[in-house]
Amino acid sequence: MQGCNANFGPGPAQAAAVTLSFFDGTFDLALVGLDAEPEVVRALCRLLSEAEQERAAKFRFARDRRRFIVARARLRQVLAARLGRPAQSIEFAYGEQGKPELGSFCGHCGICFNVSHAQDLAAFAFSSARAIGIDIECLRPIDGTEDIVTRFFTPREKDLYRALDPRQRPAGFFNWWTRKEAFVKALGGGLAHSLADFDVTLAPSEPAQILRVGDASGEQCGWMLRDFSPAPGFVGAVVVQAHASAVSDSRRLQPHARDATAEMRRRLLIDTIGQGNWR
Ligand SMILES: CC(C)(COP(=O)(O)OP(=O)(O)OC[C@H]1O[C@@H](n2cnc3c(N)ncnc32)[C@H](O)[C@@H]1OP(=O)(O)O)[C@@H](O)C(=O)NCCC(=O)NCCS
Repeated sequence: MQGCNANFGPGPAQAAAVTLSFFDGTFDLALVGLDAEPEVVRALCRLLSEAEQERAAKFRFARDRRRFIVARARLRQVLAARLGRPAQSIEFAYGEQGKPELGSFCGHCGICFNVSHAQDLAAFAFSSARAIGIDIECLRPIDGTEDIVTRFFTPREKDLYRALDPRQRPAGFFNWWTRKEAFVKALGGGLAHSLADFDVTLAPSEPAQILRVGDASGEQCGWMLRDFSPAPGFVGAVVVQAHASAVSDSRRLQPHARDATAEMRRRLLIDTIGQGNWR
């Protein structure tokens, strides 16, 4: 299996992110590398608010601090370019479960965004007045995937996964994970939402689709799912509101038991490169 050794390059402090436009103008993406020389990180850190700098200072490991600073500063730069304002002047507000959105005067501009990072890569998804969620993951071996499939996949997703050729299962697993997480991130509740209340496709050879939300079919659920390849060895997914009524559709999802989601997050977020095997 391909690991996560991609080098996205440091880039100068003012470098523009790589921007990819998607589909019918519903949303677009920016991908940015999070590796940077210390002087670049220091320059980028000055774009952060006091609260963000305090948050950065609390990271235990320098690598995590650097990734947070670069990702947040690059997000500020991309939003600043769209808003025609200095990056330092962007204000963020946070939902109940921590989802950042534009705050203060910026909140009226209708720009919705979401962020995901994996290793030294960050992806930002933007839409105009549509709730949006993004997730990227590095393909890597994870211990106990069969247990995760048994416990967290819906019956339909289990059938889809077990029908895959075993060689396709690693990619199928991460397709599942990024698509599920992109959806719960679009809803804003993170993994407090139940993963059992909606089905997604996962086969590498098939289109990314939401198959069901509650008792609504994927076509009727009011959300669109797209997958993309952020870089070699990574997979990504975006879920975006198809129309304004999707807000009511989100109420079909019930809060999920915190202990189960916490355990799943712990297991999935552990970096098991070189330690695990697909079963
Ligand atoms: C949101 C969540 C799914 C992120 O998962 P992850 O795989 O760790 O990280 P990702 O890189 O994909 O996404 C992180 C980004 O999502 C955004 N985010 C944070 N909370 C979010 C939420 N509730 N909904 C959507 N996006 C959120 C942030 O921009 C964050 O990046 P930042 O911290 O640099 O600003 C996860 O943290 C979660 O479930 N949160 C829900 C609330 C919760 O359980 N809190 C526990 C408190 S300890």
